[in-house]
Amino acid sequence: MPSDTPSLRSLRSASIIGTGSYAPDRVMTNADLEKLVETSDEWIQARTGIRERRIAGPEQPTSELAARAAQAAIENAGISPEEIDLIICATCTPDMFFPSTACLVQTKIGAVNAACFDISAACSGFLFGVETARQYIASSTCQTVLVIGADKLSGIVDWTDRNTCVLFGDGAGAAILRHREGSRGILSSRMGSNGKLAEILYIPGGGSAHPANSPTFTENPATMRMNGRETYKHAVTAMVNASQQALADAGVSADDIACFIPHQANLRIIEAIADRLQVSMDRFMVNLDFYGNTSAAAVAIALDEAARSGRFKQGDKILMVVFGGGLTWASTVVEW
Ligand code: ACO
Repeated sequence: MPSDTPSLRSLRSASIIGTGSYAPDRVMTNADLEKLVETSDEWIQARTGIRERRIAGPEQPTSELAARAAQAAIENAGISPEEIDLIICATCTPDMFFPSTACLVQTKIGAVNAACFDISAACSGFLFGVETARQYIASSTCQTVLVIGADKLSGIVDWTDRNTCVLFGDGAGAAILRHREGSRGILSSRMGSNGKLAEILYIPGGGSAHPANSPTFTENPATMRMNGRETYKHAVTAMVNASQQALADAGVSADDIACFIPHQANLRIIEAIADRLQVSMDRFMVNLDFYGNTSAAAVAIALDEAARSGRFKQGDKILMVVFGGGLTWASTVVEW
């Protein structure tokens, strides 16, 4: 689904005016995983680039991680929580079916004037949320939107399955969006989905198809199933295509981008994207070595760390690109 640039130019622009992130203190290294499943630090690093990941405690549901990231973004943006009129939380690990995680975050951060809802687009959720926020700002329905990507994947991973448990971690990232005079903000946005491939990356049980209280629940438990090779293939193709389309929509080339911020799933996937876009890896933000794949949080945490470490400055153009279960994918070009 393209957001075509000429129409974006005629609308009220939306800028990212602050970012924040949070990861739990507990570090789980590859050596720790060697004690759980038949794997090795060498295999995990060579195949994925991941060295360690953060794991949230039982007292830290997704809303807690999300609220910490949101507070950091609010502080970074220099606004008060009362100014936020919409909270969008992207997550595939909500605290519960309802209320939404966004509603639970609202109370934790005191954003009493906000409407709240969640977005379900797996690992792509943060950019789906950013584009949704842009639309609310463009239409002047909202002034100040908080978008969060937060996931506690440690709760839905099968810790006996070495194909998946080595890949994931917990965390949250957040951004505040608002119209900023004199800034073009979000230049273009591309989103796409392919529900035909739902079963290469999914959680079979726990929802209405196989409820947790049904007799079939044990055959369809609420843990992640993934066809790694298929996921890998589609992730590279979808993220390269989405990036190229978002660049074209924004009327810029890859050379104009100061920093590429991709979904942090696997270093080899990022290297393949860099290769196909003919961009050197030093212009790609990579932090998956320390966090693993944190799903909807991954690109949001990477954005926050890249912004805070001065990887780009005001006026620079950045490109974010994501991919996840659904299948879903998205890419966004932003003038910072
Ligand atoms: N440790 C040791 N060996 C392992 C492990 C492990 N943790 N996991 C798998 N293996 C073995 C396999 O059993 C297989 O053994 P075999 O040859 O005897 O059958 C061998 O390693 C190779 O397995 P492959 O699946 O071919 O390994 P591959 O190079 O494809 O790497 C990986 C696997 C890392 C999962 C890769 O396919 C990948 O990254 N896929 C994309 C995953 C992804 O991005 N998922 C999330 C995206 S969306 C979202 O974020 C929710």
